[in-house]
Amino acid sequence: MAAPQRSSLPPFSPTTEFKFSKSPNSGWQYGQRIETTPDGQAWMEREEDGWTVIDTSKEDAKKIYNIMSSGIIPRPIGFVSSISEDGYENLAPFSWFNQACLDPPIITVACSNNSRPTKDTARNIKSTKGFTVNIISEPWIEQANMASIDTPYGVSEWPLTGLTKAPSIHVKAARVKESAFVLECELYQDVEIKHPKTDGVVSTLILGLVKYIHMRNDIIEPTKGTVDPGKLRAVGRLGGVTYSTVAGGFTIERPTWKDYGAQLGEDGTTRIDTSTS
Ligand SMILES: Cc1cc2nc3c(=O)[nH]c(=O)nc-3n(C[C@H](O)[C@H](O)[C@H](O)COP(=O)(O)O)c2cc1C
Repeated sequence: MAAPQRSSLPPFSPTTEFKFSKSPNSGWQYGQRIETTPDGQAWMEREEDGWTVIDTSKEDAKKIYNIMSSGIIPRPIGFVSSISEDGYENLAPFSWFNQACLDPPIITVACSNNSRPTKDTARNIKSTKGFTVNIISEPWIEQANMASIDTPYGVSEWPLTGLTKAPSIHVKAARVKESAFVLECELYQDVEIKHPKTDGVVSTLILGLVKYIHMRNDIIEPTKGTVDPGKLRAVGRLGGVTYSTVAGGFTIERPTWKDYGAQLGEDGTTRIDTSTS
């Protein structure tokens, strides 16, 4: 699906609530084959169109990037505020971002060098060690997108965005006041990813130890103290310049061996025939 002309699109409708639904096949029993579920048969029939298999060593890197970033979706976006040794402030969004460890709480951000030399974010974090990761919400996605501009080193993106600096507790880099969920991070490790053919550094993987979490009280789900997705209204990234919202979801219990093991044979095969159910 190619993105249609922007001018022909309806106005954005803000996420006003997070809509829970049943899971796609809520009556599913373990081992039940996909073809026996309401939507599953049609899904598998589409396989008749065949497959495209790409050998990454034979394809143009940009094409591989476009394919991978359209397939690895939705991606969270870490909006990173950093500061250089000489005090230049920097702001940029990164969707190669995630949580990598529970205890200690560690996040990862990958800054690619493919389009130009080391990005200011990687350079700043390596030298001053501290940064903040700000989660972007729908009301200020345009401002955050502006920060992806390729300003030269030493030119701050902050004034271009219209966003507001707020002080951090542990790191020098500011946090974004408009962000309702912010992680203050300390550099834990940086990994230089080298291209196997040229040996040149093509990306810097930053591992950040989360020292403080700032949560705006209105986004906190009161019973658990976690984040209410309907209140945070976080924006994610799909392929190219496409963003996505999080307006709904469903729950599925995590299976445990305690619950299922007794129903399985010793070799892990099911004792009951589920192939036709
Ligand atoms: C939504 C979004 C996500 C992005 N994700 C990444 C990413 O994960 N890694 C990366 O190197 N660049 C990413 N970029 C591009 C950077 O934001 C851009 O190169 C920016 O200018 C880097 O800024 P800096 O040099 O000030 O660090 C992304 C851009 C956008 C708009």
